[in-house]
Amino acid sequence: ARIAIFASGSGSNFQALADAISHEPEAYQAEVALVVCDKPSAYVIERAKAAGIETAIYHPKQYENRAAYERDVLARLQAENIDWIVLAGYMRIVTPVLLAAYAGRMLNIHPSLLPAFPGLHAIKQALDYGVRVTGVTVHLVDEGMDTGPILAQRAVVIEDGDTEDTLAERIHAVEHELYPQVVKELIQGRLQPSQPRG
Ligand code: GRF
Repeated sequence: ARIAIFASGSGSNFQALADAISHEPEAYQAEVALVVCDKPSAYVIERAKAAGIETAIYHPKQYENRAAYERDVLARLQAENIDWIVLAGYMRIVTPVLLAAYAGRMLNIHPSLLPAFPGLHAIKQALDYGVRVTGVTVHLVDEGMDTGPILAQRAVVIEDGDTEDTLAERIHAVEHELYPQVVKELIQGRLQPSQPRG
């Protein structure tokens, strides 16, 4: 399978996935074929280049609207025969252009136990609220912000004295372990999204 990772920032989750796949390519039966980035200054671009992975860099503001931007991205994905889209710190809502083409084959990671604390600054939101437990969620992407069927979750306990930095460090460590595992199981067909029972 050919994976495109979409990222807008540091790309530590990109790195974790690329490293995990290159350590056991036969277990994944997959490769990271492309990094799609909507921020030309993002550090993930350096990481992709260092890993020898192709990058597709966009300036979304140069497009008339989000759909026009995504049509361009979609053309590139199709030209590269991409099977799966893995969002990893991609700071945009995905529109029906990409969703229709990759239904059930686009996943996202979010640093909270969804549906708690969607959107920006989820780690700070959890600290500000005063919850004792937060965590990480991997889910299939739909049109909402951090919504969509849940694939996996891990809890992270908030300690007295945690700051945004100390908590973020533990959450990111969990992300870097969980995301590659979920991607592997999903691609292998061993993982089904959970069904809402409400
Ligand atoms: C991660 O915390 C992820 O959960 C969120 O954005 C952050 C991306 O970090 N969606 P990085 O760019 O992978 O280092």
